[in-house]
Amino acid sequence: MARSLIIGGMRSSKRHESLIPLSHQHHHGLVLSHRVLRDLPGLRGDSQALALVAGEVVEFFERDLLAHFAAEEEVLFPAMEQQLGKLTIIDELLGEHRQMRVLVQELSRKGSGAKTVEAFAELLRDHIRKEERDLFPIYDQRMSESAQSAVGDGIRQRLAG
Ligand SMILES: [Fe+2]
Ligand SMILES: [Fe+2]
Repeated sequence: MARSLIIGGMRSSKRHESLIPLSHQHHHGLVLSHRVLRDLPGLRGDSQALALVAGEVVEFFERDLLAHFAAEEEVLFPAMEQQLGKLTIIDELLGEHRQMRVLVQELSRKGSGAKTVEAFAELLRDHIRKEERDLFPIYDQRMSESAQSAVGDGIRQRLAG
């Protein structure tokens, strides 16, 4: 007998496995941005501590987010638009990637600007929420199985290389 897919109002069907590597990185990004936003008010005026946090953000960007953005921009977004047509949300997400790149460049140059660190952490948090809550459900519901499986292979390769 088919079991109900609805448990407590949530779809119990899990996120397609092809997106799990991105969701893992989203989790790390959320942990970092929440911690930064929590600690930042206590660090104002402490330029050394601020420089450390800014350095941590830049390091996370270079280690994880560069490849993550590339996997989305080169694999996930084009595959979705190829199958589903132009999507406004993808334009918004690309604009947010650009903004985050600019903010990180600023952090790399100036080091310890609290406002820039805060702007980056807020943008990262909101961007990840938008992908998880708005973009990924479109992918789960509307992309064909074969396209999802090709996306999964492409994402794995892009994150590995
Ligand atoms: Fe993104
Ligand atoms: Fe993402």
